[in-house]
Amino acid sequence: MHISVLLKESIDSLEIKEDGIYVDCTLGYAGHSGEILKRIKKGHLFAFDQDQEAIDASSKRLSEIGSNFTLIKSNFAYLKEKLQELGVEKVDGILFDLGVSSPQLDEKDRGFSYHYDAKLDMRMDQTSNFSAYDVVNSYSEKELSRIIFQYGEEKYANSIARNIVLARKQRPIETTFELVDIIKKSMPEKAKRDKHPARKTFQAIRIEVNHELDILESSLKDAASLLKVGGVLAVITFHSLEDRIVKNVFKELTNIDSMVKGLPSIPEEYLPDFRLVNHKPIIPSEDELQQNNRSRSSKLRVIKRIK
Ligand SMILES: C[S@@+](CC[C@H](N)C(=O)[O-])C[C@H]1O[C@@H](n2cnc3c(N)ncnc32)[C@H](O)[C@@H]1O
Repeated sequence: MHISVLLKESIDSLEIKEDGIYVDCTLGYAGHSGEILKRIKKGHLFAFDQDQEAIDASSKRLSEIGSNFTLIKSNFAYLKEKLQELGVEKVDGILFDLGVSSPQLDEKDRGFSYHYDAKLDMRMDQTSNFSAYDVVNSYSEKELSRIIFQYGEEKYANSIARNIVLARKQRPIETTFELVDIIKKSMPEKAKRDKHPARKTFQAIRIEVNHELDILESSLKDAASLLKVGGVLAVITFHSLEDRIVKNVFKELTNIDSMVKGLPSIPEEYLPDFRLVNHKPIIPSEDELQQNNRSRSSKLRVIKRIK
């Protein structure tokens, strides 16, 4: 089961209009999409996911609420093109709830979790022909070390990369547990005490397999360009690398030119097209943190088109 994160906060931030057009870029198990659909009796919801299992499960769930929705099995990197093909030029609100869903993590066979022994996979899109197996078995030591350090912020990246390359000289690394063993051998005992030793490396490999960070900046800019005046873009992130990208894109979109920044009244033509709805990101309440551990590192940032 997937428990939606920052559900009320993100849906409220969209200021949903009954006849509006909304886009959920990360449908998952339709927690957010369901809430949007309940509020748009006369509008329409377009929802993207690159995972066919998520599309199938959500199609059923949403049909119980209404029929005014379209599901699109695609990476949100193609958001603009896909909507254009459907004749949609401008929308009232867009939501991103990034990362993986709990069912993806919990399904043993998908190889996302270090808790289950499975083939190295981690593809969100099961039709892609690039998986964790390819990263682990074909990247150079230098590349492995870079992604584990950069995307996992893992202190022991060099030693993990070195041991991966040593191990695969004997035979290919096939499973999650083989990789977990290599990671464990690459760290001092004290580093394994608090959190699972493979957590950061698995995050890094997952980000690489799904190109999660490469496409985020351009997708956010595309999303912003699709908003009507008054339209809202809300983004939920789960780790600092994602959040930094969102923060910087939003800063760029809402930036006031330094030439006019201090003026008592800024001429219309110098005003940016967007404004930040909250200066600080919205984080989960104590209640939510207690009920859903997965929400612990989540942050919601929101911008609105003002002209
Ligand atoms: C955190 S879950 C969303 C959960 C959903 N909001 C809910 O409440 O049920 C993220 C979903 O987005 C999908 N996803 C992640 N990156 C994507 C991308 N670049 N393009 C399309 N779907 C993506 C994943 O497959 C996953 O199903």
